[in-house]
Formats: sequence, C-alpha cells, structure tokens
Amino acid sequence: MINENYTENDITKYLNSLSASQNNLLKLYDEILKFDNKYYIPAVKKDTSQLLYWLAYLKKADNILEIGFGSGISAISIYYGYKDFKKFVSLERDNNRYVRGKQLFKKLNIKNIELIKIDAFNYFKENCDKYDLVFLDAVKKDYINYLELLKERMNTGALLICDNILFGDRVIKEDIEEKYKESVLKLKDFNEKLSLDKNFKTLFLPAGDGISISIKI
Ligand SMILES: C[S@@+](CC[C@H](N)C(=O)[O-])C[C@H]1O[C@@H](n2cnc3c(N)ncnc32)[C@H](O)[C@@H]1O
Repeated sequence: MINENYTENDITKYLNSLSASQNNLLKLYDEILKFDNKYYIPAVKKDTSQLLYWLAYLKKADNILEIGFGSGISAISIYYGYKDFKKFVSLERDNNRYVRGKQLFKKLNIKNIELIKIDAFNYFKENCDKYDLVFLDAVKKDYINYLELLKERMNTGALLICDNILFGDRVIKEDIEEKYKESVLKLKDFNEKLSLDKNFKTLFLPAGDGISISIKI
C-alpha cells in the first residue's frame, strides 16, 4: 500500500479541509494513493503536496526536474500548480513505480511530464540541462551528493525544494537506530551545508517530513 503509515494530525486535517475548497488536489491525492496500490510506495504528505502546488504556481518555471517520482503525487502537484512549463522531467529508477506512473499519467490524461526510468546520477552524466525548479525526494544519504551537482544545473532565481530533511525527527534525536545512522549523519551534513551555502538563500520548514526551499542566487 502506498504510504500506509501516513496519518494526519488534527491540525493538518483542519488546514487541509480549508485548502480543499481552494483546489482539487487533495481529492486527487486520495485517488492517486488508491491507484494500483499493491506495493508500498512512499509519497509526499498532503501539506507538502499543497506546498509544491503553490510554489509551482508562484514560480512558473520553464524547466522542471523531479528526482524521485515514487507515487507521482509530488510531480502531479507541481503539474497542477503550473502546466505551462516548457519541459518537465521526473526521474525514477524503480521499474514498478515507473510502469505504474506511466499508467497513472494515462488515466489522468497527463501527456507532457517526461517520466524517465533511470538512476538520477546516470541521468546527470548524460544530460546538461539547466533547471528553474528542482524537487529532490530521493535517498536521503545521497542529498549531499546532489547539492554540488544541482548547483551547476540551476539558473539564477531557480527553486530547489528538498523533502525529508527532518527524516521523521531523527535529525534532532540523540539516540538513532543503527540502520538509520549513516543516512541521518549525511542528511545533517546536507542540511548544514545548504544552510551555509552562499549560492542559495534557504528557508527550512517543518511541513511534511521537513522541507527546505532554496532560491539559487
Ligand atoms: C520518497 S520516494 C518519492 C516520493 C514521491 N516524490 C511522491 O510524492 O510520491 C523516493 C523515490 O526516489 C526513487 N529514487 C531514489 N534514488 C533514486 C535515484 N538515484 N535515481 C532515480 N530514482 C531514485 C526511489 O525509487 C523512490 O521511488
């Protein structure tokens, strides 16, 4: 099941109920979760989906890149926020998620997001495009490696949005389970480097699983 552990607290339920009268994305969110949900697929939370929609609406980016298509909710949130982009590429290395994503696009009649089955690091070796909006939602311990790469690929004024920067609350916990230690250390390193990086002006928010929103300056 996609995101089976996701439960909204009373505050997010209340806020989402207000947002629901502003756009149809929350209804669509539930539909996407139910679509072909045989396997577990991680997805951005509802407040993150709304935030992506609004950032896309405000930014009106020509060239959009997503790293980590997963369930498709994040890509579709960006798409609904702004459909007049010139190019929108979403990268996913998992075959089941890629195949499901193609079917989902067919069902929703979305024709112009290019979903590519590839490892993002290989994609960057082959492709030198520059972006106006990047959404990073992949393996947490890799974020630090994407930072330098993405810096070169983003136009001035471009937005870099990263999900999961809190990793639950693990980045602030003293006692971390052994299996998460490497990811937490690398994620904390990423957060700190991003906060100090003079190429970006960054806002860190507790929305969803922790979101950073950076402008390339
Ligand atoms: C947290 S999920 C993305 C959730 C998605 N944004 C959504 O809202 O449904 C992360 C996804 O990134 C993919 N992924 C992780 N590392 C990747 C890489 N190096 N290249 C391509 N895809 C990657 C995983 O297979 C997984 O589906």
